Amino acid sequence: MKILYLGDIVGENMIDVLKNHLQEIKQEYKINIVFANAENVSSGKGLTEKHYKQLKSLGIAAFTMGNHTFSKKEIFDYMDKEDVTLCIPANIPTKQGKKVLYVKYNDKVIALVNMMGRVYQNTPLDDPFKTMDNLLNDIKADYIIVDFHGDATSEKKAFFYDFAGRVSAVVGSHTHTQTSDNMVYNNTCFISDMGMVGDYNSILGDDINMVIERFRTGVFTPLKVAKTGEAIISGVVLDLNGNKNTIERVYKKYNY
Ligand SMILES: [Fe+2]
Ligand SMILES: [Fe+2]
Repeated sequence: MKILYLGDIVGENMIDVLKNHLQEIKQEYKINIVFANAENVSSGKGLTEKHYKQLKSLGIAAFTMGNHTFSKKEIFDYMDKEDVTLCIPANIPTKQGKKVLYVKYNDKVIALVNMMGRVYQNTPLDDPFKTMDNLLNDIKADYIIVDFHGDATSEKKAFFYDFAGRVSAVVGSHTHTQTSDNMVYNNTCFISDMGMVGDYNSILGDDINMVIERFRTGVFTPLKVAKTGEAIISGVVLDLNGNKNTIERVYKKYNY
């Protein structure tokens, strides 16, 4: 089974970019199912129900989030609905939200898990390692994919080696910068970060001048998502078949 997993989608402009190009990427890589990190879709922070529905209608089967999960408060109104395929970080201590999402494809079941790293994150989070240990006691699926949302490559890689052989893939998100360290160990696929679906001439998807201004002045004015007319779609293709799983990087540039 070939899965396309897209890195953090930054800004609603990217919905149109995906509308124009997702199908051709799916065809090129013979993709069966698409997942994406959607924590930055709506004005760069969070995910409204409208944007969730638009992305779903493009054929993205399920979504994971991150530190911006609750940036749009309306997520509380729709994330727990039965048919909503939105998975929030399992180690956010709240009881609300879906912590494991089961996605069916033909006769196979994929369990999707979202986990947050704790290094450089200043929100309350349970231990991602122990949280995953506990989840694995209950998960019954053919494949298990974890989107590990965090800053530190060391923490992501430690999580990967700890759970290698116990999950099918650990794919990183949050830095919006694709790494070149994709590998497979004990039949578990890994990449520190999948990158983003965002504006090419940007700083992690945001307007360049506004971010420079923040660094120069120390004044934290709200950032705006960049819109320069060039976009990148980055992510990974996971080929999971039970015996010899593989991972390859996808990094495409388009005008929009
Ligand atoms: Fe992000
Ligand atoms: Fe993030």
